[in-house]
Amino acid sequence: PLRQLADHYDLHLIEDACEALGAEYKGRKAGMLGDCGVFAFYPNKQITTGEGGMIVTDDEEAAMLMMALRNQGRAPGDTWLQHTYLGYNYRMDEMSAALGAAQMTRIEELLTRREQVARWYMERLAEIPAVELPYVAPQTTRSSWFVFVIRLAPGIQREEIARKLEERGIPVRPYFLPIHLQPYLVERFGYRQGDYPITEDLGARGLALPFSGVMTEEQVEMVCRTLQSVL
Ligand SMILES: Cc1ncc(COP(=O)(O)O)c(C=O)c1O
Repeated sequence: PLRQLADHYDLHLIEDACEALGAEYKGRKAGMLGDCGVFAFYPNKQITTGEGGMIVTDDEEAAMLMMALRNQGRAPGDTWLQHTYLGYNYRMDEMSAALGAAQMTRIEELLTRREQVARWYMERLAEIPAVELPYVAPQTTRSSWFVFVIRLAPGIQREEIARKLEERGIPVRPYFLPIHLQPYLVERFGYRQGDYPITEDLGARGLALPFSGVMTEEQVEMVCRTLQSVL
């Protein structure tokens, strides 16, 4: 639908695939659905280069322009002291890139392990009535698990649950906080609590559980058992 909309209004479609490395929509890889696809490699992502990210595109002109912009405006072919454009220093250093390239050689293994951990969580948490599980839409032919976020049933005091879990050695985080209630946007545009009730409801009930590809089934079980007893 977004592609159709973009075509209709002659817009470029930039796909933010930062959390979706390896995911598929109707059998097509995330990052290949727009004119440009963007990935991020901060340490919380499926693979990391410390900081930094990557843009993929099959638009030659856009690629050339972005390569220039990240390199202080030097167009491909410019010498070090030539700056065809006004640009930035957005280069990824080679050591960080090497770290990412090495992880890409075993990306399938990394994604599969995260899928397994998510599956353990899904199966075990389905037994806890106060927990709403992440929803995977039917168009999603492959999920790439970035974080594992549950929603607590309405009326449950999330902060208290989080505190009790932390006391028992299980770190959790509220997730996400609604963007319109971030101080900058409140000050700049005057948004208020109540402007987006669905977003606010979801923001108030989401809880990110410990999640990574190196978790064992016993660790998942321990998180779920503790959550169950705290609830
Ligand atoms: C969906 C999404 N877009 C963009 C970003 C930003 O990535 P970076 O911090 O590498 O700029 C993130 C990172 O968390 C993200 O999750």
